[in-house]
Amino acid sequence: MRFAFSAKPNPNVDASMQSNRKLLLTEQQRDSMRAAGKFNASLMDYLRPFILPGISTEEIDTIVYDYTIRHGHTPATLGYLSYKKSCCTSVNNVICHGIPSSYRLKAGDIINVDITSIVDGWHGDQSESFLVGECSVEACAITQAAFDCMYRAIRALTPGCFVSVIGDNVVMEAHRRNYSVVREYVGHGLGKRFHQYPNIPHVPDRKARQERLYPGLAFTVEPMINAGTRFTKLDSRDNWTVTTRDGRLSAQFEHTVLMTENGPEILTLTQNGPQYGHQFGHQFSLPT
Ligand code: MF3
Ligand code: CO
Ligand code: CO
Repeated sequence: MRFAFSAKPNPNVDASMQSNRKLLLTEQQRDSMRAAGKFNASLMDYLRPFILPGISTEEIDTIVYDYTIRHGHTPATLGYLSYKKSCCTSVNNVICHGIPSSYRLKAGDIINVDITSIVDGWHGDQSESFLVGECSVEACAITQAAFDCMYRAIRALTPGCFVSVIGDNVVMEAHRRNYSVVREYVGHGLGKRFHQYPNIPHVPDRKARQERLYPGLAFTVEPMINAGTRFTKLDSRDNWTVTTRDGRLSAQFEHTVLMTENGPEILTLTQNGPQYGHQFGHQFSLPT
């Protein structure tokens, strides 16, 4: 059976976790991650009202930079590898790692803004896809799908469950809508480092069926959902921007999650953003 669950810990799992034992956070370290997630979420709440037709993605980046610095923290992407901006802005057919530019949002666009902060040495990482002005049914549907995929995966997690629970749930939710799931870019563990053990694929692979999410582990769930095929294309000029190969829409949501003894705890929950169960598409209808 494809989704059969084995209650017996696989000895290989303990091997890969064994060499990563220090990634299982103490209560004090968990509080540091909670603070980082909370700050990152406050930045998302601050930013959300600015995402309107006419703003450029560079202006979005400046808002992210200024808010982060003003609060004494650091944008994690700034100077990460060769990346020179404080967030990623991925519009329409851009899957992820869109670089802020002079492009101005127009009504009907969808944009994912992905923000990551370093707070006292610890990382918080999240993204939301936004519908800009009034959107097509398709734009609304792909945004809804990415949101529902993320929440279905997070809510299926239990202490010590396999990493593959995430991929299994994302794939089921995406495929029942005839959407595809990106494989080349994955979620990740995070803590003192931006990207660390374990890899969190949104389509289950062999490794994900062996590795477990133990209490004390912090990681992201960030499915990228495509309206057409799953295939991607990396921009050969900037070496960052990832687009759909077929040019169709892609959407994504991301939260940082801490596994605890009582189940998953979302560290990047916002005050004003879409919560579990949110329905996109009606936010512009006026009361009659
Ligand atoms: N925030 C992204 C993630 O979710 C990573 C962006 S790395 C960058 O992992 F260099 F492209 F900014
Ligand atoms: Co991110
Ligand atoms: Co991430």
